[in-house]
Amino acid sequence: MITLKSGHEIEAMRRAGKITAAARAVARDMVKPGVTTQQIDQAVYRFITSQGAVPSFLHYSGYPASACISVNDEVIHGIPGPRVLQEGDIVSVDVGACIDGFHGDCAGTYPCGQVSDEAMRLIRVTQQSFFEGLRYAREGYRLSDIGAAIQRYVESNGFSVVREFVGHGIGRHLHEAPEVPNYGKPGHGTRLLRGMTLAVEPMVNMGTAAIRQLSDGWTVKTLDGQYAAHYENTIFITDGDPELLTDPEGSLV
Ligand code: MF3
Ligand code: CO
Repeated sequence: MITLKSGHEIEAMRRAGKITAAARAVARDMVKPGVTTQQIDQAVYRFITSQGAVPSFLHYSGYPASACISVNDEVIHGIPGPRVLQEGDIVSVDVGACIDGFHGDCAGTYPCGQVSDEAMRLIRVTQQSFFEGLRYAREGYRLSDIGAAIQRYVESNGFSVVREFVGHGIGRHLHEAPEVPNYGKPGHGTRLLRGMTLAVEPMVNMGTAAIRQLSDGWTVKTLDGQYAAHYENTIFITDGDPELLTDPEGSLV
């Protein structure tokens, strides 16, 4: 069942979204050579809890951290640890926070120092694919119009979209109906209505779309070992322009 949020519920989602977006910025600013992924996770934990919120991912289905940090060929759900970031890495950070009973969820991929031109293009195309999808996140369109626009943009830039993981509704639960695929034909699925809150999150591979899951039960990598990027915001469907609840506050890097 898709829940439509009331005005008061949207107020809480705005609070959650602001904290979540700020936690992403804390993580983004720490992506530098010599920093460990665990240090970033600890800073995310400290920031979210300092705001009176709870990290949404910590203990979710047994997940052991507050952030997912996925480096290079890791697509999503990388578990923070002793790994030291190196110049040239690309680092995906995914964070969630819950306050007053509502969640925010957002992610971004950031360059560690100087990265290759092709890695930077992957980061930019992935981010832009979200905004291509966002053009259809309005009353009058259907759910699959979002994913169709994302897929069209990604593939026209020579990259591929991961199929096994998708975006989702979000609210009192981190994951609610509907599923929001980043691919598909336009004109299908539920009609978009004001009050819907969705996490739209393209996962984009430089090479083929195929992925594999590591034996840690979480980390997802590209099968071909090429780089992947991720970009996500929590959005609110209105009767006009969609509202970014996890406002990325300016530019990517
Ligand atoms: N943004 C991701 C998602 O929507 C993060 C979930 S990580 C988990 O699924 F640990 F919470 F599962
Ligand atoms: Co999500």
